[in-house]
Amino acid sequence: LVNTTAQTFSLTAKPVLRALLGESVSPPPLWLMRQAGRYLPEYREIRAKCPGFVEFCLTPELAAEATLQPIRRYGFDAAILFSDILMVPYGLGQPVTFREGEGPVLEPVRNAAGVERLRDSEAAVRLAPVYETLRRVRISLPQQTVLIGFAGAPWTVACYMVEGGSSRDFAAVKAWAFGDTEGFEKLIDLLIEATAAHLIRQVAAGAEVLQLFDTWAGVLPESFTRRLVIRAAKEIVARVKKSCSRVPIIGFPRGIGALYLDYVRETGVDAVSFDSGVPVSWAAREIQGLVPVQGNLDPHVLVAGGAALRDETRRILEAFGRGPFVFNLGHGILPETPPEHVAELVRLVRGG
Ligand code: CP3
Repeated sequence: LVNTTAQTFSLTAKPVLRALLGESVSPPPLWLMRQAGRYLPEYREIRAKCPGFVEFCLTPELAAEATLQPIRRYGFDAAILFSDILMVPYGLGQPVTFREGEGPVLEPVRNAAGVERLRDSEAAVRLAPVYETLRRVRISLPQQTVLIGFAGAPWTVACYMVEGGSSRDFAAVKAWAFGDTEGFEKLIDLLIEATAAHLIRQVAAGAEVLQLFDTWAGVLPESFTRRLVIRAAKEIVARVKKSCSRVPIIGFPRGIGALYLDYVRETGVDAVSFDSGVPVSWAAREIQGLVPVQGNLDPHVLVAGGAALRDETRRILEAFGRGPFVFNLGHGILPETPPEHVAELVRLVRGG
């Protein structure tokens, strides 16, 4: 009993965990999606040591260092594991590489035979260095800093797996999803299992919070959003909660607009992250009473800095500041972001 109490105390002392458990923390805790990466000179320096991005992610020494760099520079309230959503397809045995200036390249999966070739049985071994990275980061973090693990949601990961990389119109993945929905759902179901297992292994390695990134949730019509985005998130949350009931899960179904409400009601996520298009007054009124919220500064505002940065930050703080809230961007930080604008944002949020 003593142990449990002590553990609860030390856990809830971290501002991000307090906010995600429903407390209004003032000033609100903050971290930024993609807070590690190319906008930081110290990242570019260690990134040069390992030409392949997948190999970089699978080298615990480098990935742990990349995770810690933004914590040292800015003192964010959360560290997010340095990895990528495409490590799950890599774990399933799909060849994945990243090309300079081009982004990810995958050998596309286009049909049932392609799904048949994917294997979850070796993922724990193939991804072992990712879990080692978490163990290393966890022991190096300041006491008040929470460690976030993550995964891409099945729909978003399937977009890359089927398109074979980034896409402008998602023609191939939509042709499959709309033309043979049951066949496509075999891929989604495989990803539900693989993603839940990956998240559970991250918690075992030290992740204290999880975030599910559904970057392309907003490109689907409503009925498919319900079937592919909301259902998948719900099943992943259920699986993760079964083995790690106390770890808060943040959902990020980017771009789903008014369906944010049903996403929150139906999936069981503990908190929700808003993209920059979500009106903050609507979200504060309709959603912040249901779950803690996170977001949603436009990353381009952070690039611009100046009056736009001050005004937008103030608007977000005014709308969300009275309820449980974690300050963040509405999407990942952009590589051209001046590092001093990030320092300015940290001062603005912390009231300095
Ligand atoms: O947030 C963090 O700091 C942790 C690390 C992280 C990365 N990717 C590192 C990365 C996280 C959480 C991601 C998630 C991710 N990856 C998403 C979801 C969030 C989002 O931004 O929408 C998506 C869609 C991906 C897929 C991906 N990874 C693409 C399309 C690309 C190429 C485009 C780009 O930004 O370069 C990546 C590569 C990638 N992932 C980089 C980093 C730092 C750049 C690679 C490099 O440094 O050479």
